[in-house]
Formats: sequence, structure tokens, C-alpha cells
Amino acid sequence: MRSAFLRTGLVLLLAGIIFSGCINEKKPNEPVTASAIPEDNKYNEELIKVGFAQVGHESDWRIAATDSAMDTFSEKNGFELLYVDANNDPEVQVNAVRSFIEQKVDYIVIDPIVTKGWNSVMKEAKEAGIPVFVIDRMIDCDEDLYVAWFGSDFKAEGEAAGAWLEAYLANKGRGNDDINIAVIAGTDGSSAQIGRSEGFDKYIASKPNWNKLDEKDGEFTQSGGKRVMNEYLEKYDDIDVIVCQNDNEAWGAIDAMKTAGKEFGREGAVIISFDAVYDGLADVLDGNINADFECNPLSAPYVADAIRKLDRGEQITKKINYIDEACFQHEDNINSIVCGRRTIDMITVTWDVLLERAY
Ligand code: AHR
Repeated sequence: MRSAFLRTGLVLLLAGIIFSGCINEKKPNEPVTASAIPEDNKYNEELIKVGFAQVGHESDWRIAATDSAMDTFSEKNGFELLYVDANNDPEVQVNAVRSFIEQKVDYIVIDPIVTKGWNSVMKEAKEAGIPVFVIDRMIDCDEDLYVAWFGSDFKAEGEAAGAWLEAYLANKGRGNDDINIAVIAGTDGSSAQIGRSEGFDKYIASKPNWNKLDEKDGEFTQSGGKRVMNEYLEKYDDIDVIVCQNDNEAWGAIDAMKTAGKEFGREGAVIISFDAVYDGLADVLDGNINADFECNPLSAPYVADAIRKLDRGEQITKKINYIDEACFQHEDNINSIVCGRRTIDMITVTWDVLLERAY
């Protein structure tokens, strides 16, 4: 992990630690968050009490998502935030939700570490009459138990990576070559991992000359990515493509490749990554990562708007809400990729693209 920890300064390791009215200063280039309560009625409104059970602080993406939630659910925006960083422990996360119910919050927001294990506590929230929103990763439970979900189409991200690799290899005259692919997966059982693997595997299955050597869990961390890459380098002599399911894992894989004296990116093994955070795109610009598929961390403002609607007595009709995402490449050689019925433009990373990056 590069600058992530330094950037936030507010990451909490202990579950149960509560933030009340923590306000981060807005950074330049940060996108507009949910609209603030007008100055004149700020002190007349009662704060809306929101409990947010966050995954952890494993990646730069996660830090950006936490920053956005802190900023969105701030006192100046009319919220009192109870925040728990579950440190990637599903049990801690479920207990956090239980504690929100006990504390009688008005709304609960969950970014579920893994898809499974939620039914009981979700039913408890429903019985207590507390509306639940799910963000980023998906949850595997009865849809009636939450109001709405806002997040990424992880399967579509995996498919886009597969479609880009197909186009890239064809462009390099390697369309019929045997291609050995090593995958560094994200947290096992998270919908981000499940979706990205499923989407990319669809392409592997359709190409007889693509061979998946291995897929191991790198826990969405730089150290995990490095550990798994070291294992792959010990085990496999010939790796053509390394698929890292987030930027932090890609940095770990790059560290391992550098130490082993192996060439990667523009010069060697193709590196595919997901998230497209600022430092990830900087590596795309440098040619260390060949292509990066965005995962948008800014879902909290959508939830805040939905909460305000509910508070006004309006209905939330759309349950599943995908956030727009883009695809980035180092070389300016693929204009667009076709994934099923979608045509997606590839954005070649330049300094201008990088400087506009919000996270
Ligand atoms: O759920 C989103 C994933 O979780 C992001 O790809 C990763 O960086 C994060 O930790």
C-alpha cells in the first residue's frame, strides 16, 4: 500500500469505536457529495443517526470509500455517524450491525465483507424497524431485508478485463499463442472476488489457448499480492499474464517481480488490475500496469440521498443500483472493447487523466 494510510489518518482498527460528527476537509478534485442541509435550517433539524459497518482498511480503494462515507454522513450534512471498521472479520461486522440495532440508529449501512452469514442479523434489523442499505459488495439474503444496494457490477468488470486482454493480444499478433494466466484473487467469498473471477473466467473458458495456471487469495492487500506472486514465481516458469483483483495486489505483484528480476507491464508479463485508484493509474501511465478496470468507491452519497428521500416519506423503488465505471489502458492501441451487448471505450491514461482523478 502506498499513500493510503497517510491520506486518511482516520482509520479505526477497533470495532465498536464510534465516530460522532467527524468531518474531513474536502480535498481538491473531490467529487460533490450528497447535498448539505441549507445553512439556515442546519440547527433546527435533528441529526439522522446512521450506523456504518465498513469492511476494513485493506486497500487504497477502501480508504477512499471510508473518506467519502465520513464526508457524506457528516454533521454538516445532517448526520450522526456511528462507524465501525470490521478489519475484514465477518464476525466483528455482524456484531457491529447488532450493536447499531441496540443503539437504535435510524439507518444501517453495510459494506459486507463476504456475501454469506447475514440472514439472522438482517432479520433482527427488520424486526427492529431499522432500514438497511447495502453498498459496494453484495449480500446474499432475502431482498426484502434491505432497502437498496448501490455498488459495482463486479462480473462486468471481470468480463471487461477478459475482453480487453483478447483485443490486446490480437493487436500484438498473439491471438493464437498459448497464454498462461495467473490470478491473484481478492478476499475469498466477497462479491468483488466472486464477480471478477466469474466474469474473467467466462473469457478463459471461451479461449482454448488461454490456460489459467492458478488463482489464490491475495486478500486485496499489497502484502497478500506479493506473497501470492512469490509463490507463483517459485512454481511457474512461464507466466504471460497476471490478473490482480485490485491495485494493492498489483503493487505487491510488481514488488515480487522486481525482486525476482522479472519483466512486467509494457516490458514483459501483462499486468491487469482493478480499482483504478490514483496510484494505480499512475502505474498505468508508467506502463507498469497494462490495463486497470475501475471500481467506484463513491456510493455513500447515493445512500445519503436515498435516506433523505425516506425521511421525507418518499419511496425508494429501485433496489439494485450500479454505479458507472470506466476502463483504462497504458498503450493507445485499443479504442473500445465489446462485452456481450456493451461497447466500452478504453481510456488511455495521460497526465490529464491522472490529474483529474478524484481518489
Ligand atoms: O469491494 C471492493 C474491493 O474491495 C476493491 O476492489 C478493493 O480494493 C477493496 O478492498
